[in-house]
Amino acid sequence: MAGRLQSKIALVTGIGAGIGQGIGLMFAREGATVIGCDISEQWAEAAVATAQAEGLDFESVHPIDLTKPADVQRYIDYAGRKHGRIDILVNAAAIPPHMKPVAELDYDAEWVPTMVGEVDLVFLAVKAAWPWMVGHGGGSIINFASVNAFRGSTNTGMVAHCAGKAAVLAMSRQIAIEGGPHGIRCNTISPGMVKTPSTQGAGTSTGAIADRILQRLQIKRLGEPEDIAYGALYLASDESTWVTGANFPIDGGVLAG
Ligand SMILES: NC(=O)c1ccc[n+]([C@@H]2O[C@H](COP(=O)([O-])OP(=O)(O)OC[C@H]3O[C@@H](n4cnc5c(N)ncnc54)[C@H](O)[C@@H]3O)[C@@H](O)[C@H]2O)c1
Repeated sequence: MAGRLQSKIALVTGIGAGIGQGIGLMFAREGATVIGCDISEQWAEAAVATAQAEGLDFESVHPIDLTKPADVQRYIDYAGRKHGRIDILVNAAAIPPHMKPVAELDYDAEWVPTMVGEVDLVFLAVKAAWPWMVGHGGGSIINFASVNAFRGSTNTGMVAHCAGKAAVLAMSRQIAIEGGPHGIRCNTISPGMVKTPSTQGAGTSTGAIADRILQRLQIKRLGEPEDIAYGALYLASDESTWVTGANFPIDGGVLAG
């Protein structure tokens, strides 16, 4: 079924790589007008080139550092002014978290940047998009928690990452409550291990850690960005207009075990 997002104005952060790129391209293929952003000019331009080669309605504002309130405002207002409304906001971008145990994690240099890069940037984008949804037909906000909002890791220290993703999950429920009267829906996706530049750089493709990750999966492969994008497509479309405040694990069955 094509055109599931026909005529929708969709903002997708982090379109330069990984899950954000997979979602941005899938949304545009389904008829959305996609306005992405990324901190990396080079990656964003490569994504735009891929989309344009397919003739998709896909542009990017870059470089945007979503941890900086002025950058967030510039990106969101650019899209809002151009189209008069925002129908979909996907907060896929996150800075790579500092993966360390409690005893080794530095508060200023590691805990704070992880929180800002996983939690604050979601709040900032939602706040900036709000006036472009309220009174403009509402909208669908999709945020990214993680299986690590529900379970810790015996492989790697990740105390700040677990806290950050649980914060996104809790914040999203409250956004759903505050958004309901305005027709704004908000849901989270909690991915398991997906093959993206950040996870592949963390030794998850081969070796002992990769073997342990695969052991936990009921479906014995790592995720692809498209596995996640199909879930986001449902949540962004009018097929899910009665779905809000929900969390969708897309994780190869990790949370079942
Ligand atoms: N990949 C996984 O296994 C996995 C698992 C659970 C949750 N998640 C979550 O899913 C989301 C997407 O993950 P991913 O693996 O595709 O990420 P990624 O690191 O592969 O890509 C993130 C993109 O965001 C951009 N970015 C980073 N910091 C930015 C900033 N400050 N401003 C603007 N852009 C910035 C990067 O340049 C990159 O293009 C994240 O929220 C992540 O925490 C991912």
